[in-house]
Amino acid sequence: MLDTVATMHVGPPPRLPLAGLPTPLQPLPRLGRALGFDEGALWVKRDDLTALAGGGNKARKLEHLVADALARGADTLVTGGASQSNHVRMTGAAARAAGLRCVAVLGGLPGEAPEGNLLLDALLGIELVWAQAYDGAAIEAAIDAACTRLATTGVVPYPVPLGGASPVGTLGYVRAADEIAGAAPTGAVVYTATGTGGTQAGLVVGFGDHDRVRGVDVGALPDVDARITELVAAVAELADRAPPAGCVQLDRSHIGAGYGDLTPEVHEAIHLAAATEGLVLDPVYSGKALAGLMADRRRGLLAAWQPTVFLHTGGLPSLFTDRIGPWLLDRGS
Ligand SMILES: Cc1ncc(COP(=O)(O)O)c(C=O)c1O
Repeated sequence: MLDTVATMHVGPPPRLPLAGLPTPLQPLPRLGRALGFDEGALWVKRDDLTALAGGGNKARKLEHLVADALARGADTLVTGGASQSNHVRMTGAAARAAGLRCVAVLGGLPGEAPEGNLLLDALLGIELVWAQAYDGAAIEAAIDAACTRLATTGVVPYPVPLGGASPVGTLGYVRAADEIAGAAPTGAVVYTATGTGGTQAGLVVGFGDHDRVRGVDVGALPDVDARITELVAAVAELADRAPPAGCVQLDRSHIGAGYGDLTPEVHEAIHLAAATEGLVLDPVYSGKALAGLMADRRRGLLAAWQPTVFLHTGGLPSLFTDRIGPWLLDRGS
């Protein structure tokens, strides 16, 4: 059993060190040159290299969420997401590492091929409840319903919202901002994929400034900007930080036809990252964030001298699916 450690002084939830932090911060000289950045301006924060069944950004949130669940005497984490959810896979791994059960509501149909994240969900013994199609609000309601149902059978459930984006989970990205501030060039801006908004909100609180964090919306939730605003207020209070300056920076122009759409821009971004740096991105999240960064650089919204950190949030398992693998290898895309 891993040790629980308190991270802050006055009453905040404890943290269970599950993620293997800090993650590396690495320069991207060849990608930087290809995009016309000055030498030493472009960096990557490797949050794809956390622990938990293949890694990714949810590990930082789960350190706080699982510690909170244990502190409340819970025995089962209940969460949900899309059928290829990285968050569900990592919540299942965190539950196993802490000796808990995991129940997850997935948007999709029970007959889906056990590939990518679904294969890992099965390996991790996550108990799946299928919710026909992906709809954020419906899945959040189904998580609550599953908790109510489980509680009548003597189980002590702990609800983990979509993407782990509760104020407690979001604390994990305040710590990430502190890691970046301690290692990256002064004044660096961070580009991140934004789904449920917890990653962006935590970074903003950590930096104390919305302008330091540029979210590239992947289209997972229609109201993510409002959610970020609410989360920022709650997390600043929980982490005992000052309310940040500025307002939410969110680029909605890379969603394409909707959440998970495979766009030509993301195809180019994934191939460029692989060819220049050996960096592997996914098309639903991390590839969209890089496509947003590239578009800003090319349109002059990001200056050549501007120190910039690309946050690699993970997502690798979805490449190993019939929907994405062939598209990725199609040079005509
Ligand atoms: C790989 C990956 N990157 C980014 C995100 C978005 O993070 P957030 O939900 O905190 O906005 C997710 C969310 O599921 C993800 O799986």
